[in-house]
Amino acid sequence: MNDSIIEEQNDDAPTPQGELALQTIAMPADSNADGDIFGGWLVSQMDLAGAVCANRLARGRVATVAIDSMVFLRPVAVGSVVSCYAEVKDIGRSSMTIIVEVWAQHHSDAEARKVTEGQFTFVAIDENRRTRPVPRTGN
Ligand SMILES: CC(C)(COP(=O)(O)OP(=O)(O)OC[C@H]1O[C@@H](n2cnc3c(N)ncnc32)[C@H](O)[C@@H]1OP(=O)(O)O)[C@@H](O)C(=O)NCCC(=O)NCCS
Repeated sequence: MNDSIIEEQNDDAPTPQGELALQTIAMPADSNADGDIFGGWLVSQMDLAGAVCANRLARGRVATVAIDSMVFLRPVAVGSVVSCYAEVKDIGRSSMTIIVEVWAQHHSDAEARKVTEGQFTFVAIDENRRTRPVPRTGN
């Protein structure tokens, strides 16, 4: 786990960091036998949310090249509204490092709570899957 990225974030922050990139509802099919949502499903949603952000930055096709940290802070109940927020941490030549936070709120909850956070790196690629530069202007 990359501890440094976790240390840079304020776990007690009352509001999500970044832009809302994806919102969905956790369904029974996404849960284990005890009714908790699978971590792998959450990672998948986070990957999609990061890709939404990276696609916009790269103005085209991207591929996930790395997930450098992933922390599961709280369980997610079936029926929760799951909101993924994406914040750009760094842009290289072809790479984009994006912090994705997941906040979940069940109808029985007073407010949404951060349940997961992770650092995703995407690479801008062309139609032949070769890396290409991230456009520098107009982002
Ligand atoms: C993404 C891919 C095209 C990159 O190819 P590559 O030969 O590794 O390219 P490079 O070594 O030139 O690296 C490209 C960029 O990724 C970065 N990178 C590569 N591996 C990385 C890693 N493990 N962590 C963070 N960044 C990484 C490099 O630093 C470089 O950044 P920069 O251009 O901003 O300097 C190739 O690895 C690939 O196709 N991987 C499979 C992607 C995939 O199927 N993802 C799942 C579905 S989307």
